[in-house]
Parts: sequence; structure tokens; C-alpha cells
Amino acid sequence: MQTAPPEFQEFAAQLATAVDQAGGEGRVARCLERATTAFAGWSKYYLFDPACYTRNLVMKNELFELLVLCWQPGHMSPIHDHQGQRCWMGVLEGAVEETLYEFPKAGSKPRPRPTRTKRFSEGGVAFVTDDIGLHDIRPLDEFRAVTLHLYSKPIQVARIFDPHSGQIHARQLTYHSVGGVAVAPSRT
Ligand SMILES: [Fe+2]
Repeated sequence: MQTAPPEFQEFAAQLATAVDQAGGEGRVARCLERATTAFAGWSKYYLFDPACYTRNLVMKNELFELLVLCWQPGHMSPIHDHQGQRCWMGVLEGAVEETLYEFPKAGSKPRPRPTRTKRFSEGGVAFVTDDIGLHDIRPLDEFRAVTLHLYSKPIQVARIFDPHSGQIHARQLTYHSVGGVAVAPSRT
């Protein structure tokens, strides 16, 4: 667990209510959209690593976890699922591209098939579940980007899909920092 910092406590309470509400996905998205501009304190979680994008934990409880992800030009997430959980992504800085994929059909070397690409700029909010598809994320152009990710419920392990080999493996998700303090080398 990671408690919300004082300036985020009201926001955290709103999120807890919205994620626990049936059909509250739009309400969560609006909370995140407001949050991208409502707080000056996000930069505390801006920790970049030239080698890989970073996952920086802001708060975590039994209902959700909220992370800031920091991307430099050329970084890209692998194609991944969300283990049956819901994922919202708001853009704090820069712009990102999300590519959605169909879950691969069963076979000896199943490969995910891209279905749609969407771009999001500051204040934009994306939403994905395993029913919608797999996805990957990358920053646009030569600029860095920072995104806010809400997972409900928290996700400890994700499945990674290699589009070239067709292999699928489970990856333990770790944090680059917790509460703004670096804890480990990035491994996302
Ligand atoms: Fe994701």
C-alpha cells in the first residue's frame, strides 16, 4: 500500500468512489482528466531513465494503483494485457500513441494483430480492458512524455506478447520509484 500524499487525498477519495461504482468508467476518466491540470505536484514523480520508460508509484490501495510513467524519445512499452483489470491513461506532458491489438488466436506462434492507433495529447484520457484488446504505448516524435496510469485493481503481473516470435511471457511489474523516491532500476 502507498497512501495518497496530502494534496491528493480528496482526489484519491473521488477515485475510490468512482472505480467502485458500476459503470463508473466515464467518471474515473473525468477525474483523471481534471487531475492532469489540477495539481502542480506531479513533477515530484517525474523520474526518467534513458534506458527505458519508468513506472513511478503515486498511491496504491486494494481498489487501485496510480502511477506516473515517464517516456523519453524512442521508448516503447511491449504489447501487453491488463490481467482482467481496467486501465485509464491520462497525458500529463507531451503526446503518446496507443496501438490496440486483437488478442492472438490460439496456435503454435500466435501473433497479435494491430486494429487501431490513437493519439493522445495533454489532458487526453485513454481507457483499455482485455475485452477491448492488448495495447502498446510510445511517446510521439522527438519529445519526452509523461502519462498518468490508473489500474483498478492493481496489476502485479502482465502478459507480454512478442509480435515477431509470437511468444508470450508473464512479467512481474516493478516500480522505478515510490512516493517520488527511486527504489530500483527500471524494469517495465
Ligand atoms: Fe497498458
